[in-house]
Amino acid sequence: MAARILEGREFAARFRADAKERAAALREKTGVTPGLAVIIVGADPASKVYVRNKNKACAELGIYSEVIEMPGNTTKEALLAQIDALNASKKIHGILVQLPLPAAIAKDGHEIVNRISPAKDVDGFHPVNVGRLVTGEEALVPCTPHGCLRMLELAGIEMDGKRAVIIGRSNIVGKPMLHLLLARHATVTICHSHTKDLAAVTREADILVAAIGRPHFVTADMVKKGATVIDVGINRIAPKKLVGDVDFAHVKEVAGAITPVPGGVGLLTVAMLMENVVQAAERQLIK
Ligand code: GUN
Repeated sequence: MAARILEGREFAARFRADAKERAAALREKTGVTPGLAVIIVGADPASKVYVRNKNKACAELGIYSEVIEMPGNTTKEALLAQIDALNASKKIHGILVQLPLPAAIAKDGHEIVNRISPAKDVDGFHPVNVGRLVTGEEALVPCTPHGCLRMLELAGIEMDGKRAVIIGRSNIVGKPMLHLLLARHATVTICHSHTKDLAAVTREADILVAAIGRPHFVTADMVKKGATVIDVGINRIAPKKLVGDVDFAHVKEVAGAITPVPGGVGLLTVAMLMENVVQAAERQLIK
């Protein structure tokens, strides 16, 4: 039997409606509108599209937003000064520095991210938020893995006691996903480029998360019958053709549930960012 298709659109609509309601409630209670600042350095075309989508979502949900466009030759010092100004701004409750940074300052990525006040770090990349996630304290959680987790919950996919396997060990997806699933009592394994006999590991998974950035990497023979397959990959294989890390056409015949690309997890990321902005604002204003 073909898998249940987990449509990102449906879940994102729920998360956005919740964020909109919370933003309105906060405005009612405090008179303050939650605010997001996105800093984009340089002119990476994909980043420009992402930033436009974030800005549009803010407008739709009643969240104030500023986009700060800085030239590609911006120095680390200038960027840090901009972050300092936003850390001090009363109108801004969330700050996001769009990645990737231009090559000349990419090596300073940690120092730049670490300059964002942890309370305003709506990407959840600051070591304070990473530490809170690991230890189970309230944290701002990276948007993509957070969206995956919330989708699993809302879809009624059992995690407690299940085997979860994540392919990919990035700070943005793989590692936070590990902690989110662990906190839901799954038994979690992370695989990566040095893993031996990867398919034998992935075939054990009740929940398989693919976040490697290689088109159609996960094939049907790597998936247990009835497993839930979450595809975090977005790979452009032709000017107008995006595919995931999962061979969707064949894997959907084996899986119990699966997310498509496009139309899957990608739509959840912006929705979760909106939730993080509202959460950050709530904590700064009323907690
Ligand atoms: N570029 C691609 N994904 C992301 C993300 O989640 N956050 C930031 N800041 N930049 C990105």
